[in-house]
Amino acid sequence: METMDAIRRRHSVRLFGPAPLLDEQIERLIEAAAAAPSACNSQPWRFHVATGMVRDRVNEIMALSTVHLSEYVEILGPEGFEHAQEFYANLGHAPIVIACSLPSANTELDRINGYVSVVAAIENMLLAATDMGLGSCNVTFSFWVRDQLRETFEVPDGREVVSLILIGHPAETPAAPRHRQDIATILE
Ligand SMILES: Cc1cc2nc3c(=O)[nH]c(=O)nc-3n(C[C@H](O)[C@H](O)[C@H](O)COP(=O)(O)O)c2cc1C
Repeated sequence: METMDAIRRRHSVRLFGPAPLLDEQIERLIEAAAAAPSACNSQPWRFHVATGMVRDRVNEIMALSTVHLSEYVEILGPEGFEHAQEFYANLGHAPIVIACSLPSANTELDRINGYVSVVAAIENMLLAATDMGLGSCNVTFSFWVRDQLRETFEVPDGREVVSLILIGHPAETPAAPRHRQDIATILE
C-alpha cells in the first residue's frame, strides 16, 4: 500500500473479530515502531504485548477505569456514555493489546522529547497495521488505571505506561471524521 493511502485509510477501530494475530504480524508491527525517529536517537519506547490470559486481565483492569467516565457524561451524551462503558470493559475484543511505555522524565525537555518520540513510534505501528489490513486504536484513557496496567504488563520500575494500542482484524468500518484544514500557517 502507498504510504499516503495508509495515512488516509487509518481510522480508529473499536470493534474487532476473534481471529488472533500471527507472530510475524506482531513482529512487523514492532519493526515499524522501532524504525521511528526519536530525540537524540534515544528510542525511549518499549512495547509490552498482552495475549492470552494477560489480555483477559487487561479487560478486568480497564473495566475498573469506567467509574471515571462519569466525568465525561456531558461530552459523550447518554448513548455515547453507555457505549464507552462497554468499550473500555472489553476493548472492542481486540485479540492483542500493546502497552507502550517510556522512561519517567526528570526534566520538562526530557518529558517532551520522550512523548514526541513515542508518539512517532505509535503512529508508525498504526500505519503498519493499516498497511497489513488490520485495525487499531490508541487508548490513552487507560491513564486512570495506569498503576494496575504497569503491574499487569510487568513494566519495569522507572518507566510509565502512556498508551494502550488495540490491534486486530476490524469488525467495523469506522466513519472518517472531518479533518480540519486550517491547521497550517505558511510564512515567507
Ligand atoms: C493520544 C490519543 C488518545 C486516544 N485515546 C482514546 C481513548 O482513550 N479511547 C478511544 O476510544 N479513542 C481514543 N483515541 C482515538 C481518537 O478518538 C481518534 O483518533 C480520533 O477520534 C480521530 O479518529 P480517527 O483515529 O478514526 O482518525 C485516542 C487517540 C489519540 C491520538
